[in-house]
Amino acid sequence: MFDVDTLRKDFPILSRQVHGQPLVYLDNAATTQKPRQVIDSLVHYYENYNANIHRGLHKLAEEATEAYEGSRAKVARFIKSPEGARSVIFTRNCTESLNLVANAWGRKFLNAGDEIVLSVLEHHSNLVPWQLIAKEKGAVLKFVDIDGEGRLRVDQLEQLIGPRTKIVSLVHASNVLGINPVRYAAELAHRQGAIMVVDGAQSVPNMPVDVGDLGCDFLAFSGHKMAGPTGIGVLWGKPDILEAMDPFLGGGEMISRVLLEESTWNELPWKYEAGTPNIADGIALGAAVDYLEGIGMENVRAHEKSLAAYAIDRMSALPEVTIYGPKDPEERVGVVAFNYGDIHPHDLSQVLDQRGIAIRAGHHCAQPLMRRLDCVATARASFYVYNTFAEIDKLVEALEGAGRFFDPDAAAAARMS
Ligand SMILES: Cc1ncc(COP(=O)(O)O)c(C=O)c1O
Repeated sequence: MFDVDTLRKDFPILSRQVHGQPLVYLDNAATTQKPRQVIDSLVHYYENYNANIHRGLHKLAEEATEAYEGSRAKVARFIKSPEGARSVIFTRNCTESLNLVANAWGRKFLNAGDEIVLSVLEHHSNLVPWQLIAKEKGAVLKFVDIDGEGRLRVDQLEQLIGPRTKIVSLVHASNVLGINPVRYAAELAHRQGAIMVVDGAQSVPNMPVDVGDLGCDFLAFSGHKMAGPTGIGVLWGKPDILEAMDPFLGGGEMISRVLLEESTWNELPWKYEAGTPNIADGIALGAAVDYLEGIGMENVRAHEKSLAAYAIDRMSALPEVTIYGPKDPEERVGVVAFNYGDIHPHDLSQVLDQRGIAIRAGHHCAQPLMRRLDCVATARASFYVYNTFAEIDKLVEALEGAGRFFDPDAAAAARMS
């Protein structure tokens, strides 16, 4: 394993105070903090070899191109891309990656009456792009439900994926509940000749992901949730499918030959990268990959699993707390969504903030799931590789404090004493 106290020193922000208290950052599913190595990589690029890539024939352009393409190769290695870097398309974020598939694949291959199978626990970014393309093409959306413990209903998955299914798109690890059987879903999809899209926003940063082993056709994720910068995301795709689709965006870089009336396309992956890309952040994503590989993704996973287990254990001891999703930490990443009695999650979050504790409160961009869980919102603590058991103790202590603060009887008793 690794020493968390030593590792924390890599993250400058973790030494700051919030409202006079040491920061306890438990909003990692929204975005993670960045180690010095990633921040340095950004600064180093801008201070030493800032230049546009691919087309320049001078030293700076060469260095920038090499670093950017080197980063792509690192990402390919990180997810064990069977056909290497040509499958790795840089986008702005996971959302854009999913929109790319919905638009480029959907526009070319979807027809009226075709079915797209999703689930009720999808993030809006794996929902709205499919709604848009389904409307345009007259395709039909189908939704797999969850069971009483928040697990995806595999029986329904088996039922819903049928001969009319063209696309199955599921989140690998939910940002609210647990991990989904996407490998099995890919098998079911392929048996029907459908493609399998995986939203890896919460899995790639938190567990070893071998994209060949997952058996999917597309995998989307964001750099900023894996210790990398904002503004850079990834769409991994099978080359034969990427070749068959038409481009998503048109412009410079993505072309081979341009005539006035028509054009031909660049090779993969540049066919899907129109215009000047996010060079600095692309390079810094490579630094994030180096950083995570230095720790080892098995270790990241093991650490988060033990944090989640500890948090669930301690929080379950509070009678007012309801935790959503399967309780076995094997079935989730370091995400614990919960409610505390009838305290609104926003109020809870504000009270915790006064103690320097950052959690998330709201619908987590999963409004249909909130409705399904019969709540308007939840609080959510989410952990990353630098979080500690002591921070979870602080969270639990703060939750108890919030319980007393919002409990009118306890408040009255406190006034009397
Ligand atoms: C499961 C899941 N999918 C997709 C996204 C979208 O990521 P981004 O906003 O970086 O595009 C998120 C972000 O929270 C997420 O948790």
